[in-house]
Amino acid sequence: MTTSEATTNGDTSRSVSVKDVAAAAGVSVGTVSNVLNRPEKVSPATLEHVQQVIGRLGFVRNDAARQLRAGTNRAIGMVVLDVRNPFFTDIARGVELRLAEHRRPLILGSSDQDAERESTYLDLFEEQRVSGLLITPVGKVLPRLRRLRERGTAVVVVDRRTGSREFSSVAVDDVRGGRLAAQHLLESGRRRIAFIGGPRGLTQIKHRLHAAQEEVDAVDGARLRFVETGTMDADAGRRGAEDLLAGPDRPDAIFAANDLVALGVLQALTLAGVRVPEDVAIIGFDDIDFAASAAIPLSSVRQPRAEMGRAAIDLLLAAIDDPAAQVRDIVLEPELVVRRSTG
Ligand code: RIB
Repeated sequence: MTTSEATTNGDTSRSVSVKDVAAAAGVSVGTVSNVLNRPEKVSPATLEHVQQVIGRLGFVRNDAARQLRAGTNRAIGMVVLDVRNPFFTDIARGVELRLAEHRRPLILGSSDQDAERESTYLDLFEEQRVSGLLITPVGKVLPRLRRLRERGTAVVVVDRRTGSREFSSVAVDDVRGGRLAAQHLLESGRRRIAFIGGPRGLTQIKHRLHAAQEEVDAVDGARLRFVETGTMDADAGRRGAEDLLAGPDRPDAIFAANDLVALGVLQALTLAGVRVPEDVAIIGFDDIDFAASAAIPLSSVRQPRAEMGRAAIDLLLAAIDDPAAQVRDIVLEPELVVRRSTG
């Protein structure tokens, strides 16, 4: 059966097939296939001639049909916690650039930290038989990831270490990042520190908070208070800061779970007439571009996002090529970036 090919203007009524191109070019179907898939096997003169005929006839390969025959989809699925957070879109950008080199499309979804939404995307990617999946998990997804892998989808976890030894992961050292932020606030004389952001059960938050708590516990007279939020966006930061300002125990420093939360904290303090950093210092996490360009430039703990994206997709492509490829946990170094918001 000839797989019919759509013409470039999408008119499938007169779709052009590989056979049509071969006949018009006066070459075999095998030669046309080589021009499309293995151009290095074709002489330059024949390559140019066949490519001209392809352009003139408006032939477009039907990759969907080829993938249907192969049983897998060349696309890569990616589920992040919040697609509005530049931290994740910066990572996705690194992934997309690498995939373009491999002619693979990226399908990006946002769980919005909701386990149901996350599951809907996993269903979609399973139905689509995507070749690979990058995921920053919300819920307990290990059983789902195992099933995806059994059905031929490679999986890499991003922004969180799994410790499962079943799936590779790429993340920053969140414990080190939590220490850097807390040490910086303590060294600048802050003693009443609030950590805003959550949920507490999210591995990244658990590690940052626990490390900060250890640093605070080691300093006489210092204390840390955790203000848990359901999401990690600017609204959560605003609400968390407003609650703190309304309470009796005002902090002299706020460690925000990420920069979006920190930007919300900064807005709430500024609107309440609280001076930053004089009255309250603020530090975030990720060092997204908005941190440096905030009205009061934000100190933050930088995550190497582009490097994270490249490392994640390289691990995934390796696992697609060889399902028995070694499972690796890549842990990247965070970096303290000091700006005006901590003085
Ligand atoms: O993954 C949880 C948080 O860690 C995200 O919001 C992102 O900002 C990263 O810092």
